[in-house]
Amino acid sequence: MQIGILKETAPGETRVAAIPETVKKFSTLGATVVVESGAGLQAGVADEEYLSVGAKVGSRETVLAGADAILCISGPQASNLHGLKSGALLIGALDPVRRGDAVADYAQAGYEALAMEWMPRITRAQSMDILSSQSNLAGYKAVIDAAAVYGRAFPMMMTAAGTVSAARVFVMGVGVAGLQAIATARRLGAQVSATDVRSATREQILSLGAKPIFVENVAGIEGEGQGGYASETSEEYQRAQAELVSAHIAKQDIVITTALIPGRPAPRLISDAQLASMRAGSVVVDLAADAGGNVEGTIAGEQVQRHGVTILGASNLARGLAADASALFSRNLYNFLAAFWDADKGRPVFPDDDEIVQAVRLTCGGSIVSERLKG
Ligand code: NAI
Repeated sequence: MQIGILKETAPGETRVAAIPETVKKFSTLGATVVVESGAGLQAGVADEEYLSVGAKVGSRETVLAGADAILCISGPQASNLHGLKSGALLIGALDPVRRGDAVADYAQAGYEALAMEWMPRITRAQSMDILSSQSNLAGYKAVIDAAAVYGRAFPMMMTAAGTVSAARVFVMGVGVAGLQAIATARRLGAQVSATDVRSATREQILSLGAKPIFVENVAGIEGEGQGGYASETSEEYQRAQAELVSAHIAKQDIVITTALIPGRPAPRLISDAQLASMRAGSVVVDLAADAGGNVEGTIAGEQVQRHGVTILGASNLARGLAADASALFSRNLYNFLAAFWDADKGRPVFPDDDEIVQAVRLTCGGSIVSERLKG
C-alpha cells in the first residue's frame, strides 16, 4: 500500500497530514509513504526528515501516480488529483456539507472519500477525532491571541510601583476548545469564569479552578443533545441567558466564545449593546466566527473594533500552531487507518457495518454512500 501526502493547497493552510513519527508507524504496518516535496515546510518538517525515516519525496505527479491513499488536511478539488487511480482512498477534513460538488466529483472519479470531521463521538474513536485535537489547540491559541492584543497583563502583580490587577476572562461554551481556554487563562494568572448550556460542564469548570456562571431556575433545560453536543435552547432560556450574560460581561476584560450547535448557525451570545457595556480596551475572541459568529459584528479572519472593544474573528486557529496541529492531526489519521488495518492484505479494510465507517464514508464504488449526505 502506498500512502501519498500532498502539499496542502487551501489558502492560508500551514499544516501537513503526516509527520516523521507517523511515517515510521505506517512503515511498521508495511505501507510506503510518498511525500510531495516541501509539503511539511510550514509545519517545520523538511524533506530530509521524511527521507530519514524511510519516506520517498517527489513531485505532486509522482505522489498521485503511485498512491493507493491520499491523506490530507482539507480535501483537494478532484481536478487537483489528476493521475490518482480510481479506487484510491481520500482521507481528511473533506467538509462534505459545504463541498457537495467536490464529493460528487470524488464519487465520479471512483475515489473512496472518508470525512474525518464526521467521526462519531464514541470512546473507540477518541484518538481519531480531528475536531477535538484541533479545537484543543484553538482554545489555547485564542487566549494567547487575546493576551497579545490586550494592552494589560493577565496575572496580578504586586510591584514596588503598585499593583497590576488580574485580567477577568469569561469563556462562553465549555466544549473541547473552551476547556483548554479556561486552563490556559488560569495558567496565565487570570480570574476565569465560564458558562455553557450543558449542565454537565459545571463540574468541569469548577475542577479547572474557574467560576461557573449558569442560568438557574429555568424549567426543562438540560441543553445536552445527541452525542454530547448542545441542542437548541428555548426562548425562555435564551432570554434568561442574555440577562445573566449582560450583567456579567460588563465586568469582563476578555471574553472567549466557542459556542456551536452542529448543523446550525452559531448561536448569537453577545449583542452590540452588550459589547458597548464592556470597558474600552477589552478583547473578545469569537471562535465560532466561521459558523457565523457568537458575537454581533464578528468578521471571520479579521480583527475589528466596536465601542473600543477589539473583536478577533478567529478562523482556523490551529493553523497558527502548525507543528503541533500537524502532529495531532497526523496521529488522528494514523490511529484511524491502524484501527482498520488488515495485516494479511497490507491495507485497511473498512467493514460496511462498522459505526465509524458508516459515519465517515462519503463515497465508494462510484456512488455517494453517506446516509447523512443522501438524507
Ligand atoms: P462544540 O464545538 O460543538 O460546542 C462548543 C460548546 O458550546 C459546547 O460545550 C456546547 O455545549 C456549547 N454551547 C452551544 N450553544 C451554547 C449557548 N447558547 N451558550 C453557551 N454554550 C453553548 O462542542 P465540542 O467541543 O465538540 O464538545 C462537546 C462535547 O462532546 C463535550 O462534552 C466533549 O467532551 C464531547 N466530546 C466527546 C468526544 C468523544 O467521546 N470521542 C470527542 C469530542 C468531544
